[in-house]
Amino acid sequence: MKVHVANHPLISHKLTILRDERTDSPTFRLLVEELVTLLAYEATREVRTKTVTIKTPVTQTTGLVLAEPRPVVVPILRAGLGMLEGMTKLLPTAQVGFLGMVRDEETLQASTYANRLPEDLSGRQVYVLDPMLATGGTLIAAFEYLIERGANEITAICLLASPEGIKALDDAFKNSGVPITLVTGALDEKLNEKGYIVPGLGDAGDRLYGVV
Ligand code: URA
Repeated sequence: MKVHVANHPLISHKLTILRDERTDSPTFRLLVEELVTLLAYEATREVRTKTVTIKTPVTQTTGLVLAEPRPVVVPILRAGLGMLEGMTKLLPTAQVGFLGMVRDEETLQASTYANRLPEDLSGRQVYVLDPMLATGGTLIAAFEYLIERGANEITAICLLASPEGIKALDDAFKNSGVPITLVTGALDEKLNEKGYIVPGLGDAGDRLYGVV
């Protein structure tokens, strides 16, 4: 698995404000959107392109455009939804699918409760949006689901990641034959006993949308 930890002062600055418990939901949502656009720039470095011929007002030339089939962006509900706008700003022609995953707060096991995805993902590059790579349970379950449907390249964009989550993800897919990339804003220290990332930012879904 390829892991890219963003190392950019603007990303660090925005993440610091995001982590601050005094940051309110509207500001939090705005920052998430901005951060995802910055992370998406790195995450899409390998997006497939094709060469086309065009005419500028001056001459004929060739250039690159995004290839078909279009990439698929999959936010993991609920918190990943807060990342969608930032991603589609950069990749407006991407197809969007949804995957609803819930984690049992006692066992930390993830399960799927909803999905709206193309049935066949063969040959598709898939970008999964989930703000927190904590235990890895949610992303492992999501990737298994996507690989079953044929996804042959998966990139996850996470605002924060834990060392435990990265290891779990790597262990789960190192022999899968599917190239997996993780792009994250920061690699945090550890998980606490409740499976929260430390220092982290708390519950991303609650901070985006309030406690339900
Ligand atoms: N999910 C969150 O929202 N926050 C964490 O710290 C871990 C999982």
